[in-house]
Amino acid sequence: MNDMAIQCNLTNQELFGTAFAIEAAASGVHAVQPAKGARGRIVVESLKVEFESGKSNTVAVDGVSLRVEPGEFVSIIGPSGCGKSTVLNVIAGFTPASGGTVKVDGKSVDQPGVDRGVVFQQYSLFPWLTVRKNVEFGLKTQGISQSKRETIARTFLGLTGLLAFENHYPDQLSGGMKQRVGIVRALVTSPQVLLIDEPFGALDAQTRVVMQEILTNMW
Ligand SMILES: Nc1ncnc2c1ncn2[C@@H]1O[C@H](COP(=O)(O)OP(=O)(O)OP(=O)(O)O)[C@@H](O)[C@H]1O
Ligand SMILES: [Mg+2]
Repeated sequence: MNDMAIQCNLTNQELFGTAFAIEAAASGVHAVQPAKGARGRIVVESLKVEFESGKSNTVAVDGVSLRVEPGEFVSIIGPSGCGKSTVLNVIAGFTPASGGTVKVDGKSVDQPGVDRGVVFQQYSLFPWLTVRKNVEFGLKTQGISQSKRETIARTFLGLTGLLAFENHYPDQLSGGMKQRVGIVRALVTSPQVLLIDEPFGALDAQTRVVMQEILTNMW
């Protein structure tokens, strides 16, 4: 392990969530040092998130600090309800922090951005858009032309074996296919950071292995 400091202390549970880094060193290969100036550095310090719900507030996350360097692959592990999704949602810019700081490449996170791709815990494709239009969505928000969007989306769909389904709607796909589209949609805008929230939890073991390979090959 290098000097990455991860401290995960999701104190709303009796059991603490723990975090560890999966990196090349874990398989006996030294981790590749990111190029100077590489982007995608996440720094979370003393994060607190409190949800207001009627009379009783829920402290979902308290005192979480972690640092992820460019090129690192880090997993946050902990029991259900300990705050994993909440931490990711704050980094993604969907959930505001109640305390502490969250920075990506030195910039405080206060809203979602194309520098951070997100693959959600639940299927989250737009049901009214075809597979290709789902993938093109982020590119459209970046102002990329229709013909270029189509080319990029078709290339990525081809890489994941989904090109034949480009004109299908999400409800015509299997669970694994929807997850693949979700991953492609997150990757296609070339984010600096990819935030993935148990995207394979609902899949059978065999499909999960295939999906993990697709993700690690593409990222
Ligand atoms: N929008 C919300 N409003 C109120 N409470 C919330 C909200 N989102 C999450 N919580 C609460 O915050 C805590 C952490 O939830 P979170 O979804 O981050 O857990 P998790 O670790 O991702 O769990 P799981 O493994 O089941 O996905 C839980 O107690 C949950 O009820
Ligand atoms: Mg979760």
